[in-house]
Amino acid sequence: MKKQWWKEAVVYEIYPISFKDSNGDGIGDLRGIISKLDYLKDLGVDVIWICPIYQSPGQDNGYDISDYYAIKPQFGTMEDFDKLLKQAHDREIKIMMDLVLNHTSDEHPWFIESRSSKTSPKRDFYIWRDGKHGLFPNNWESYFGGSVWQLDEKTGQYYMHLYSKYQPDLNWQNDEMIHEVYKMIRWWLKKGVDGFRFDAIAHIVKAKGLPDAENPNHLEVVQANQFFSNLEHVHDLLRKLNEEVLMGSDIMTVGETSGLGPEQALEYVGNERHELNMVFQFEHMTLDSPSTGTARWETRSWTLPELKKIMTHWQTALHNKGWNANYLGNHDQPRQVSRFGNDKEYRVESAKMLATFLLTLEGTPYIYQGEEIGMTNTSFQHIEDYKDIETLNFYKLSQLQQVPEEKTMAAIHKKSRDNARTPMQWDASENAGFSDGKPWIKVNHNYKEVNVEAALKDPNSIYHYYRKLIALRKQHQVMVYGEYTLLLPLDPDLYVYTRTLDKECLLVILNFSRDTVEFEWPDELAYDSGELLIANYEQQPGENEKKKTLRPYEARVYKLVQQSSHTMIH
Ligand code: GLC
Ligand code: CA
Repeated sequence: MKKQWWKEAVVYEIYPISFKDSNGDGIGDLRGIISKLDYLKDLGVDVIWICPIYQSPGQDNGYDISDYYAIKPQFGTMEDFDKLLKQAHDREIKIMMDLVLNHTSDEHPWFIESRSSKTSPKRDFYIWRDGKHGLFPNNWESYFGGSVWQLDEKTGQYYMHLYSKYQPDLNWQNDEMIHEVYKMIRWWLKKGVDGFRFDAIAHIVKAKGLPDAENPNHLEVVQANQFFSNLEHVHDLLRKLNEEVLMGSDIMTVGETSGLGPEQALEYVGNERHELNMVFQFEHMTLDSPSTGTARWETRSWTLPELKKIMTHWQTALHNKGWNANYLGNHDQPRQVSRFGNDKEYRVESAKMLATFLLTLEGTPYIYQGEEIGMTNTSFQHIEDYKDIETLNFYKLSQLQQVPEEKTMAAIHKKSRDNARTPMQWDASENAGFSDGKPWIKVNHNYKEVNVEAALKDPNSIYHYYRKLIALRKQHQVMVYGEYTLLLPLDPDLYVYTRTLDKECLLVILNFSRDTVEFEWPDELAYDSGELLIANYEQQPGENEKKKTLRPYEARVYKLVQQSSHTMIH
């Protein structure tokens, strides 16, 4: 397998508005990030992915860009950015930018120009259509609820927005627009950034003719993802982007692609495809929902074998053929410990277990800010305390549909993106040390207990456990390049796998349950003992080698020692 720096890297995602405020306006900023670079260096991360910091009205916290060449003043200046890049590089930390290319803000000059008249030279930079029989041009539903179409009074036509109406979709059939995008990406490359995350990249191409989706109730808009996700032409566009812009610079790229399985993902990340290094897939994120889109607010119970099946499929299908991007949480998802672990009595144990999982899978691990201290979901009582546009749209729609308030709030507590967007908890002082002013969103009430300062002091903290895992990943190539093999696929509580590289073999045992569970050495494992590399509990002396008792959310990683009879063979 080809070695690449981005396969060996550990990525840390920063959601700037909630990371660290340096000037007391309650909003996280670039200087705040700079002030925490040493913290990140100590943790051991190699790459920081920074969510959008460009000029933006902030309807979707920066995922609505109005100027790709400028920094939004609340985050700082371009000088601050240059300083961040330099100071990160001085510490051998790379910077990955988040590029939103599916849409811009409705305040982007291109859109202002585009909407000004039907004959505007930029009209075709976006997707405009006439209504059909006084209705929307088609019945597609937006990810944030309602139709994807918004009527623009001035010209009487509708523009398409897969996300909010403040985020009109760019038209990737327009070469002039595409060249403007190329120019902009070259500009950032010239600055020396080290990679890009391509937001919503799966959606830049829409089905020819924008056909209606099948619709049982013809008056409603419906989920129509298949008409705007992962269509064939996306691949042509990505290859062209590589040929014209990215090739020759040793950067890392990751695309956000919902709605695909590993076979389809290989069309993006296959070694010979020259499209993207990795994609963020969503299959494990839909485990607890019936689907993506607006249906993601509904919940469904899931079992560990289902998670194993999904992850194993990705691990094995991409082995030697492509590369995985592994994550359990990000700025769009609930907190990983609340979702896959136990954020009550086993918060510390389960956060460490999930860390072990994330860092021992094949692929590049992405840690989301706060995961390293076990930050949890929050449940604000009042809708006024929520800021996320998706959450607020969902609330409004639920009200219109007369869904009981309690049910709506319960869904929000579970699934709202604001769960991940409360301020980073730095210490036990007011506002968790995030800001001297009033934070733009409320701090999670558990900050006195869950914070960086406390974690740094406690040698048994989740933070120190992450640090150790990251360091281990640097020492043992098998953790990066080893082949993944699942054991015990049907065990309802234990997730067990090996990673093998030449003669080296790791055994990872994870207890995903709150019960104590027996683990018996499977016969197919031709090793009799192992050296314990890391575990999230103190080990009990005299434990039987072949039979182990795993406590709630216990995680152990062994480096296996081959049976003596086999040693001769090698
Ligand atoms: C991606 C981003 C999300 C944003 C959306 C629209 O899913 O991660 O935060 O709202 O795209 O840009
Ligand atoms: Ca600030």
